[in-house]
Amino acid sequence: MKLWLFFTLALLWLEVQNGMCQQVKRKKEAGENRIRPGRKRVRYPKVKEKEVGSKGQSILTQVLDKGHFLRPGESLSLSPGKTLELRCKGTNIGWAYPSYLDTFNDNRLSIKQHERYSQLILTTPSAADTGEYSCWVVLCDGEECSKDGDSTSSTYIYFTDKDELFVLSAIHFEIIFLRPDKPATIPCRVTNPKIKVSLHREVPAEEIDVNGTQISYSPTKGFIIQNPSPEHKGAYYCKANSTTKTTPQISTKYQLLYVEVPSGPPFATIKASSDVVSGGDIFNVTCTVLGEPEMNVSFSWRYPGLGQRPVIIHDSWRLINRGMGHTTRISQSVMIVDDVETIDYGKYICTTKNKYGETLVATTVKSHE
Ligand SMILES: *[C@@H]1O[C@H](CO)[C@@H](O)[C@H](O)[C@H]1NC(C)=O
Ligand SMILES: *[C@@H]1O[C@H](CO)[C@@H](O)[C@H](O)[C@H]1NC(C)=O
Ligand SMILES: *[C@@H]1O[C@H](CO)[C@@H](O)[C@H](O)[C@H]1NC(C)=O
Ligand SMILES: *[C@@H]1O[C@H](CO)[C@@H](O)[C@H](O)[C@H]1NC(C)=O
Repeated sequence: MKLWLFFTLALLWLEVQNGMCQQVKRKKEAGENRIRPGRKRVRYPKVKEKEVGSKGQSILTQVLDKGHFLRPGESLSLSPGKTLELRCKGTNIGWAYPSYLDTFNDNRLSIKQHERYSQLILTTPSAADTGEYSCWVVLCDGEECSKDGDSTSSTYIYFTDKDELFVLSAIHFEIIFLRPDKPATIPCRVTNPKIKVSLHREVPAEEIDVNGTQISYSPTKGFIIQNPSPEHKGAYYCKANSTTKTTPQISTKYQLLYVEVPSGPPFATIKASSDVVSGGDIFNVTCTVLGEPEMNVSFSWRYPGLGQRPVIIHDSWRLINRGMGHTTRISQSVMIVDDVETIDYGKYICTTKNKYGETLVATTVKSHE
């Protein structure tokens, strides 16, 4: 009997122990379960925020028809003519858009800050409006405001126009400085990333080999010369092959000038209005220097009739805006020779001088006979 009781008690005890163990286990599991998701909840959002931050969770959206929104990727291709509306989330937003729109103080562009977002509207966009559009949060501490760079969201918008393959430049002749210490860009951008573009030199007439190492092409930037050297200087243009037309389109011309660092003597050219003249004619010789805006240049002339016949010399300079914040100073000296006589045939030498040195350029004017 005692033994039986002992076994019964023992079994009971084991069961109770087991039950308690299970209860404890279950409690632990429950506890662990509670802790685990808790930890995850703390960890995952952090990771997510980081991922989102580094991928740049865009605050920028494009408004499509009827309240539909699109978060644009790196680039967008839109048809010209149709109003563009972009929105950026935030109570104080800054914007950047192609400088072309500022240059012409374009009233097609409007920006309005609403309570929770800023709105950019561009009516009747054209191929020329192709470029980068971006926005960012402006943080203000009292009067002082700064750009929150991490918030910057941008997209490159192509307004694809089948007749305008190149993004028009405000000027028809661009000067590009080549410096040995930085890549140079020939900015023939296109209105559609699918357009095939080639680079050509005028003299000697040749297509430049673009294989992506020394020179590469980006539809949003143009041709990029990695390590410019003096042999790259000269006149160039870009040619675009249309997918719909048989004749290719030619870009603006680009004059590539090699600039020594530190700056050197003037880069000068000389040209007579006519190389061959007859007695009684009128001609002029123009000496031109292209350079940095602040660099003043002086000119002096040597010519066949020096000291014996009067000539008119007119010096001038002006700044030309090349867009993108670049300005070039063009300095010129024009000599006018009226009523040509025998004494006027010969060599015209222009000496140009800046604080780094002087450059001589010459041209010869011959008799027609
Ligand atoms: C453009 O088209 C011409 C003729 O079809 C071809 O010879 C040339 O290689 C093309 N250029 C580019 C950059 O595709
Ligand atoms: C690319 O072109 C440059 C100069 O034109 C040349 O030196 C280089 O070997 C070329 N690279 C390839 C991979 O063809
Ligand atoms: C120089 O000559 C050319 C051709 O005859 C003329 O078009 C130009 O106006 C002249 N320039 C000056 C400054 O006289
Ligand atoms: C450039 O301008 C400065 C100040 O006006 C003057 O002192 C200097 O002589 C000028 N240099 C040349 C080359 O004309």
